Amino acid sequence: MTDATSTLDNLMHEERAFAPSAEFAAAAIADASRYERAKADRLGYWAERAREVLTWDTDFAETLDWSGAPVAKWFVGGKVNAAYNALDRHVEAGNGERVAIHFEGATGDSTSYTYAELTTAVKQAANAFESLGLAKGDRVAIYLPMIPEAVITMLACARIGAVHSVVFGGFSADALRSRIDDAEAKLVVTADGTWRRGKPSSLKPAVDAALATPGHTVEHVVVVKRNGEPTDWNADLDKWWDDVVPTASGEHTPIAHDAEHPLFILYTSGTTGKPKGILHTTGGYLVQSAATHKDTFDLHPESDVFWCTADVGWVTGHSYVAYAPLINGATQVMFEGTPDSPHQGRWWEIVEKYKVSILYTAPTAIRTCMKWGREIPDGYDLSSLRVLGTVGEPINPEAWMWYRDVIGSNAGKNGEKKEHPAPIVDTWWQTETGSHMIAPLPGVTHTKPGSAQVAVPGVSIDIVDEMGESVGDGEGGYLVIRDPWPSMLRGIWGDPERFKETYWSRFDGMYFAGDGAKFDEDGDLWLLGRVDDVMNVSGHRLSTTEIESSLVAHEKVAEAAVVGAKDATTGEAVVAFVILRGGAEEGEDIVTELRNHVGRQIGPIAKPRHILVVPELPKTRSGKIMRRLLKDVAEGREAGDASTLADPSVMTRIAQDMRS
Ligand code: WTA
Repeated sequence: MTDATSTLDNLMHEERAFAPSAEFAAAAIADASRYERAKADRLGYWAERAREVLTWDTDFAETLDWSGAPVAKWFVGGKVNAAYNALDRHVEAGNGERVAIHFEGATGDSTSYTYAELTTAVKQAANAFESLGLAKGDRVAIYLPMIPEAVITMLACARIGAVHSVVFGGFSADALRSRIDDAEAKLVVTADGTWRRGKPSSLKPAVDAALATPGHTVEHVVVVKRNGEPTDWNADLDKWWDDVVPTASGEHTPIAHDAEHPLFILYTSGTTGKPKGILHTTGGYLVQSAATHKDTFDLHPESDVFWCTADVGWVTGHSYVAYAPLINGATQVMFEGTPDSPHQGRWWEIVEKYKVSILYTAPTAIRTCMKWGREIPDGYDLSSLRVLGTVGEPINPEAWMWYRDVIGSNAGKNGEKKEHPAPIVDTWWQTETGSHMIAPLPGVTHTKPGSAQVAVPGVSIDIVDEMGESVGDGEGGYLVIRDPWPSMLRGIWGDPERFKETYWSRFDGMYFAGDGAKFDEDGDLWLLGRVDDVMNVSGHRLSTTEIESSLVAHEKVAEAAVVGAKDATTGEAVVAFVILRGGAEEGEDIVTELRNHVGRQIGPIAKPRHILVVPELPKTRSGKIMRRLLKDVAEGREAGDASTLADPSVMTRIAQDMRS
């Protein structure tokens, strides 16, 4: 565990703060009364928001039942259908012709779905899945690129009451199989493939490989035809989407599900080798996702065009692509490709084309665009942008200022500047929290470069010391959440003990987030990164232990230690130190072999950037690997105190190897 307080000392005091413009504040969806209302009556506040953002089939009788802590029940007795709320009700309200999704494909193809069209597509998918035997409570693995069928499948599951588990398309066949097995999925929805940087890439072969060994629970695989790449066909399992979905009836009556009915499982890395299946339920998750989507982004659904660049394989793509924007009746952009294909202005071209007004992305993407140079975005008309969001990792003040000056100030490609740049909303939250927990209200908060700022109304954030005591302004410690919140996870799939142990055992009665944080002199909150063995690479969570287990599973590796080293673009980069088994040859070949092995076992994002073959690893006398020292070396520093090592000379040898 790294020391949260040591990082704190390095923080400069940030003097800059930007007040919302008078015009922005006057038209804002959320004003300061949100904070007052939530402070006066937290549960009353959430009950009001619940009735505002959702149409309940049966109203709830009790806002929160915390008697089964740490498993909460929110909106007890309420019944609601997520898909009805995301779709049908907007059509019923006369907004069927509003565009729900502008889809921009990787190769430049595009289509738009109105709310009426998307509703019909989801009803057809629901009918098709039901005719394949899918029923309420069954689990569905979704392994798709960023195409509308991903959202259609998620909402069709929600409509039926089936529980989806989206597996990021960049994960390997092994990772997919372990998630299918853990959730005992009955149906898999996938595609033949997609494109990466303009080149076709396949997905279906990974599903075939995942299901090649018997013993799985899958009864059907539905395959979307996307890039036309050839695929093996397993007649027992496989069905083309086109043969079962568009041919199904477009009539489907939604049934209302209990507020606590499971909505989805999403696997995320923890501190052990086994990913955790984070479980979210229906009512509370939708309420907080939709309420924060409105407030944090100042969403005006009748006029805004919202674009969240996250993949549906991550929680951001669940809450702020598949659910909240549709629950709120917004128009959104969905993009299949990458920012640099076919050219580095691709994102800004999309902003200009659809007049995107709210952009939500990750610091790593902003830093990458910074590296490419401002001339690229300066060449586009980005004047439609009025709110800019960021998520996934701490954003450094330089990147924050660049986002504001270059993207948020752009008043057209002729180089004019806006008088009032778009406010930046930095949002802190986790797969486990389901939706925003710390974020400014853009019409209220004076935003400060680098700070995520304040808890959203109705959420109780605190920073505590080792003993669980609150720290004061200007001090740092561990980020905790003191009271239950509507979109909190309801557990880890199949592992209630791990749920308690991971989040609720460190500090009595508080949720431990695993992040270090600090309050500055003004009481604004700064995130300082993870304090556990979880890395954050390009805003994606990776577990050191998971990559270590993968390396050790290779026949030539005896031992491995993995650390996250600071990286200017990706936040952190994976660095691995390995000891080879007797007889294995050192050299470039083994490094490539091991990187590919990790890519195959977990996915390309987990491939270590550097692998260093070492004769020994620094260990304490009790045999614990001292990752802190390896991190020093990986980041090019002199290794810290090595006096507790069984053999203190190990670090000198590793440092020499690193330099050579
Ligand atoms: C980090 C992503 C600083 C944090 C929504 C957290 C952040 C982990 C921020 C969750 C932010 C997320 N500033 N750090 N605005 N947002 N993080 O589950 O370490 O993929 O614990 O959820 O990302 O990552 P996850």
